[in-house]
Amino acid sequence: MTDEPLGSDRVEWPLIGPAPHGVVRPEPVADLDWEPERASRLGEGVLDVWRVFLSDLKDLPVSRNRPRSAVAASVLRDVPEEPLSTDEVVAHLRNLVLGDSTYSGHPRFMAYVTGAGTVPSAAAALLAAAINQNAGAWRLSPAATEIELHLMSWLAGVLGMPAGAGGLVTPGGAIATLVALKVARDQRAGWDVRRDGIAAGPRLRIYASTEVHAVVGRAADMLGLGSEGLRLMPVDKSQRMDVVTLRDAIAGDRQNGCRPLAVVGSAGTVSTGAIDALNDLADLCAEQGIWFHVDACYGGAAALAPELKPLLTGIGRADSVAIDAHKWLYVPLTAGCLILRDPALLESSFKVAASYQFEEGGLERGPDLRYRGLQFSRSFEALKIWIALLAHGRAAYARRIAHDAELAHYLAARVEGLPWFEMMAPVTLSIACFRYAPADLDDRQDRDKYLDLLNQRLMTAIQLDGRVYCSNAIVDGRFALRACIVNFRTEAEDVEALLSVATELGRDLDRELRSAGTSAAQTVAP
Ligand SMILES: Cc1ncc(COP(=O)(O)O)c(C=O)c1O
Repeated sequence: MTDEPLGSDRVEWPLIGPAPHGVVRPEPVADLDWEPERASRLGEGVLDVWRVFLSDLKDLPVSRNRPRSAVAASVLRDVPEEPLSTDEVVAHLRNLVLGDSTYSGHPRFMAYVTGAGTVPSAAAALLAAAINQNAGAWRLSPAATEIELHLMSWLAGVLGMPAGAGGLVTPGGAIATLVALKVARDQRAGWDVRRDGIAAGPRLRIYASTEVHAVVGRAADMLGLGSEGLRLMPVDKSQRMDVVTLRDAIAGDRQNGCRPLAVVGSAGTVSTGAIDALNDLADLCAEQGIWFHVDACYGGAAALAPELKPLLTGIGRADSVAIDAHKWLYVPLTAGCLILRDPALLESSFKVAASYQFEEGGLERGPDLRYRGLQFSRSFEALKIWIALLAHGRAAYARRIAHDAELAHYLAARVEGLPWFEMMAPVTLSIACFRYAPADLDDRQDRDKYLDLLNQRLMTAIQLDGRVYCSNAIVDGRFALRACIVNFRTEAEDVEALLSVATELGRDLDRELRSAGTSAAQTVAP
C-alpha cells in the first residue's frame, strides 16, 4: 500500500502498475457502505426503539388484532428511489415494533409454543448478522462453527446422551425432524435409498402417537413415504403413546412386507405437553433395530431443571433428538437444534460434491456443516443460544423453566377451584388445557358439543380482545383453551388475568349463545 491519495490514477499495487490505456478503471460506488458513525446513529435509534419496547411491553396489548387492510396501510410503503433519512428509518421501525406486532414476549402471551426471546439473545442476533458468518463452511466461520459444535455437544450432555453425540442448529423443529428422519431412512431402510430411491425396496413405516406434531407427517411425505407411511398410535388417558399397540403394529407391518424405520416419541406434545414412555420406546426400538427419534422441540428444555428432568427419563437413549431453542430456551425465532447419538451419520445423508468448494487437505480445520443438513449457506444462529446461556447461566434457566411448570400447575389448581372451569388434561410440563363450562349445563344432553362451540368462540374472543392471549388444543376430540407458559415474563398475576378474562368473556358468550337458543345441532365440530 502507498500513501498516495485516493484517485483513479493512483497505483495502489505497484507490482501490476496502473490500468493500461483504454481500460476504464471503475470508480467506487459506496452508497451501501455506511461509515461507522452513520451505523452508530442508526444503531442508537434502534436501541432507543428497543428500550421503549422493553419498558412499555407490559402495558401494550398482546395483539392489536387490526384488520389486514389497516396493518398494510400502517406498515407498507413504496420502496424509495433514494434513501430515507436515518430518522425516517427509525420512525418506520418504531411504528412496526410498537404497532401491529403480536408480542410473544408479553407476560400475558401464553399461546402455541412460542418463546419470549431474551435480551442477550436479541443483541447476539444483531452481531451475528453484523459479522455475517457463513456457518456452512468452517473456513468461512471458524469461531461460529466451533461454537455451534460445542453447543450441540453440551446440549447432548444435558439430555444425557453419550459422549460424542452432537449435531447442528436448524431453522426450527420442522427441519430438525426432517433431517433426523432422513438419516433414519438412509440408515435403516436396508438399501441405498440415496442412490436408488424409495421405490427400490419395501414400503417404509414411521410410528408416532396421534398427538405427535404435524411436522412428522410432513417429513414422512417429503421423504417419499407418503402420509400412509406414518402410522399414528392411540394414546392413553394421559395422552401418552400406547406401547402395546405400537408393538403389535410393528409386528403386523413386518408380516405385511413393510419395513419399520423409525419410532418418534414425543417429549412434550404440542397439545398437552404429554411425554411418551421414552424408556419403553427405547427398549422396543433397540429390540427391533428401529431408529428412535424424540421430538423434544418443546419439552427438551425441561432437562435443565432438576425437578423436571426425571420426566424425560430415556431421552438419552434416542438415536436423534430435536429440541427448539426458540421455544423453552427463550431464544428469539428461529433456532432449532438436532442432536444425534452419532453426528457423523449426518454426512452419510447430506454430503454432496460441489466442485467449486476446493479445499487443500492437511489444514487443521473443522467440519463444514453444510454437508450435515438441508442448508448449504447457513447463518450463525448458534450465537444467540450461546450468548443467552453465557449471559444468564444454567441455574437461571433451571429456575425459570421450573417456574413456568409451577405456573401451569397453579393455573390448573385455580381452574379446579372455579366451578365454571374444567381441566381437560393433566399438566405434565408447562401446558394447561381447560375449558369454560358453566355449572348449570350439567344436565344438557348436548353439553360437550355446546361447550366446543362456546370455547371456540371464547378462544377467538380472547385473542381478539388483546389483554391476554391463549390458543387451543383438541383433547380427546373436545375443544380446550390452552395456556403454554414458555415465557420468562409470565407470573401468577398473568395466569390470573387469563382466567379472569376467560370468565368475563365466557359469561357474555354463554349468555349470548343461550339467548340465541343455540343447540348442539348448530354447533361446529372441532
Ligand atoms: C412438539 C413440537 N414439535 C415440532 C414443532 C415444530 O417446530 P417448529 O415450529 O420450530 O418448526 C412444534 C412447534 O410448535 C412442536 O410444538
